[in-house]
Amino acid sequence: MTHSQDDLKRQLAKYAMKFVKEHAIIGVGTGSTVNYFIEELAKYKSDIETTVSSSKATTALLKKYGIPVSDLNHVPSLPIYVDGADEALKYGQLIKGRGGALLQEKILVASAEKFICLIDESKFVQRLGGVPVPVEVIPSARSLVGRELAALGGDPIYREHFITDGGNIILDVERLNLANPVEMEEKINHIPGVVCAGIFAKNLADVLIVASQEGIREYP
Ligand code: 5RP
Repeated sequence: MTHSQDDLKRQLAKYAMKFVKEHAIIGVGTGSTVNYFIEELAKYKSDIETTVSSSKATTALLKKYGIPVSDLNHVPSLPIYVDGADEALKYGQLIKGRGGALLQEKILVASAEKFICLIDESKFVQRLGGVPVPVEVIPSARSLVGRELAALGGDPIYREHFITDGGNIILDVERLNLANPVEMEEKINHIPGVVCAGIFAKNLADVLIVASQEGIREYP
């Protein structure tokens, strides 16, 4: 039997619970994979003290299931954060942000003691860059940042009709050379007007869980 991409996402969500059950405070990412994870979380909500959410969409879903949500500043620590990705290397470097929640996601990744990343096999790559890199930008800096991204070799495309939870815009950058993801992440983050680059190479996944037709595998 062939599993659909949604089946694989559901399997990932169930599998992730083995990392989560021992923790009372859980960071929750954004996206369709995480939406399945929230369904699983709801089954154990009596064991959860609180969650910290990475987006308005995730907060709404958590609340719909009656799962408490707290501000990051109001929790003593964030032992674990669970999220998906758009592309991943087996070493844990990622491209994220197709859902536009990259800023809060990056803040939660940096805050968490352990980042568990859930992907299906279609996102597991040998080299990053097969998908555009989302870059969150202060609206007034759109032209400047676009020129600077072009100077870095990228082809920035304005994400139309989209405003982030923080009130900013997104440029989706194609054709960037990501042979050295840490270096490119730093270069983009240093452009004035950039809020956040969707390359997660400096703070990467601690555990990458990949679901394929053959089953689930953990990296490292
Ligand atoms: C949102 C993200 C998501 O984690 C990423 O886009 C994967 O989404 P999905 O689970 O729907 O495939 O970075 O900003």
